[in-house]
Amino acid sequence: MQFVKTGFIVIALLDGLKQKHAEHVFSYVDSEGCTLNLDELISSQPKGTHVYVCGPKPMIDAVIDCCNKHRYRDEYIHWEQFASTVPEDGEAFTVVLAKSNQEIEVQSNQTILQAIETLNIDVECLCREGVCGTCETAILEGEADHLDHYLSDAEKASQKSMMICVSRAKGKKTSIRSLIYLFGRSIA
Ligand code: FES
Repeated sequence: MQFVKTGFIVIALLDGLKQKHAEHVFSYVDSEGCTLNLDELISSQPKGTHVYVCGPKPMIDAVIDCCNKHRYRDEYIHWEQFASTVPEDGEAFTVVLAKSNQEIEVQSNQTILQAIETLNIDVECLCREGVCGTCETAILEGEADHLDHYLSDAEKASQKSMMICVSRAKGKKTSIRSLIYLFGRSIA
């Protein structure tokens, strides 16, 4: 099993897997300078190997492309993408970027991430589907309508952070602050 994670590693999950299957679990964490060489991995497998991949769409696409490049048969490639539950049209609301005290209107057909990006603010985000956790952002005031697949139910209930690529505000106004110390990001 190859476990790839960018940003926050899911420590509990990975530790559990390693405890039970240490010799079969390999982890790659970008923030620790350890990245998976997909081409090397796929090309070095014995003939007849089945490949199973789940996660964000860009990663799934990369694995399938690599398998195709190395002539894996279609029936040997298995994948599952976490479906986004983002509603087509949510309610508009206001987000306050706490560090700069800047207010942003998030339109009904926009995510918080998209609204922030219109200001040319660079936000770290890998999947944009609420799966990878890289856009996790602290909630200082208000509550989120959590639509991601990353946070546990308990974490969602605690309303301490949210995935701004998919989740929305429950009320008309929510104040958020980048988890800049955790992720080294530079959003306002
Ligand atoms: S970018 Fe992956 S959870 Fe938001």
